[in-house]
Parts: sequence; structure tokens; C-alpha cells
Amino acid sequence: MMKVLMLNGSANQNGTTFAALSEIGRTLEQEGIGYEIFQMGGGAVRDCIGCGQCSEKGCIFGDDDRKMPQEGENTGNGTISLVNEFVSKAKAADGFVFGTPVYYAHPSGRVLSFLDRVFYSSGRNFAFKPGASVAVARRGGTSSSLEVLDKYFGISQMPVVGSTYWNMVYGRKGEEAVLDAEGMQTMRNLARNMAWMLKCFEAGREKGIALPKAERESRTNFIR
Ligand SMILES: Cc1cc2nc3c(=O)[nH]c(=O)nc-3n(C[C@H](O)[C@H](O)[C@H](O)COP(=O)(O)O)c2cc1C
Repeated sequence: MMKVLMLNGSANQNGTTFAALSEIGRTLEQEGIGYEIFQMGGGAVRDCIGCGQCSEKGCIFGDDDRKMPQEGENTGNGTISLVNEFVSKAKAADGFVFGTPVYYAHPSGRVLSFLDRVFYSSGRNFAFKPGASVAVARRGGTSSSLEVLDKYFGISQMPVVGSTYWNMVYGRKGEEAVLDAEGMQTMRNLARNMAWMLKCFEAGREKGIALPKAERESRTNFIR
């Protein structure tokens, strides 16, 4: 069964982002597509420092901590690399949805720290697989947040899945999100479009349509 890997870019495991992604998941299942919602949790997430030490094994840093910090607890010494765990699931996934709450009119800092490391170390694993981003907010900043997340797709040879509106849901909390009828409808239509695209790609593979070969020779840094 084909599968869509979704990322909940909120520390809130059962909030608005989760409500939006869950609606997508339910519809995907109706379309015969499996899904998983990957929870980042509330622990510390390291950012990318451009060290260039990414390898076949992925990002070298393993000090993310997915636990929700308890009062007075130091969570800075976790051993699970959230990034590499996500990448290993991404290799097996057929499509992606990246969900974020809006923080000051941009995606949450933690989702950007996370995705920078995912794509810098392992972006090749996403090529030719469809992606969609989803932004949730109480009131403003969804369009600018979606623009930022959509950038990961464009540079990674990923077809972008659209819906009947931009992929946004409004609410301060999860229980408000489900009251956003148009937002939820947008999520369901997005899921149907994702399912349709995945089935078309599968049919293409079965017909023997080869993946395009990318040129990589020219990289201009503007200082020559
Ligand atoms: C630090 C911070 C900044 C926020 N900035 C915005 C904002 O710019 N626009 C907005 O509409 N909501 C803003 N919110 C509200 C959240 O986007 C909103 O409550 C969202 O539903 C939370 O999603 P979640 O439950 O998945 O975490 C902000 C919340 C926080 C914690």
C-alpha cells in the first residue's frame, strides 16, 4: 500500500496542526492510501549549522530530544535523532505533507530547524514524490508560512499538490480547527488530489516511464 508521511511541526501533539493532518489522513485512507503522522514532540530540536558532515547515514547530530520537557528537567542530552528517524521513514514513503502552526507569520522555528537538516542531509530521498504543506493559525500569516515550506519541494524535484484553496486551517486549538468547515474541506480535497497523483505516478511506473535524469554540472556562485 502506498503511504503518505506527514510531519506535525507543532510541539502540540493533539492541536490544530494535528487536527488538520488527521482530516487529510482519514481521507487518504478512504482513497486506499496509508499514512503516518510523525510527531516532533516538545523537546529541543537542533538547527542546521552547515557543517557539511552529512553522510549516507544522514545528519551527524543525534542530540534532539522528542520528550515534552518536565518542570525542572534538562532535556538537552537526548540521544534520538529525530531527523534521521524521519528520513528513514521518508525513504519508504510515497508522498509528504508538512504541517506547521503559524508563529509570528512564519512557520514554527522548530519545523524549519528540522526540515533544513532533513533536506540538507537527505533531500535526494524526496525527489519525484509529491509534497504539500499545511499551515494553521488563529488569524494571520498562513500564506507567508506556506510559501516558506513550499520552497523545500521546489528545490528537491518534488511535484506540489494543491487543493481548492491554499492549504490552511484556522483555529487556536484543535477543537476550533474542526469547526473551520472550508479549512477541513480544503484538507479533504488536498488528500484526494494527493491520492490521485500517487495513483497516476504508480501507473506511470507500471508503464515503464523512467524518472527524468537531472543535469548537475552548472552551479553558479556569482563570484567567478
Ligand atoms: C509563539 C507563537 C506565535 C504565534 N503567532 C501567530 C501568528 O502570527 N498568527 C496567528 O494567527 N496565530 C499565531 N499563533 C497561534 C497559533 O498559530 C495557533 O494557536 C495554532 O492553532 C497552534 O497550532 P497547534 O495547536 O498545532 O500548535 C502563535 C502562537 C505562538 C505560540
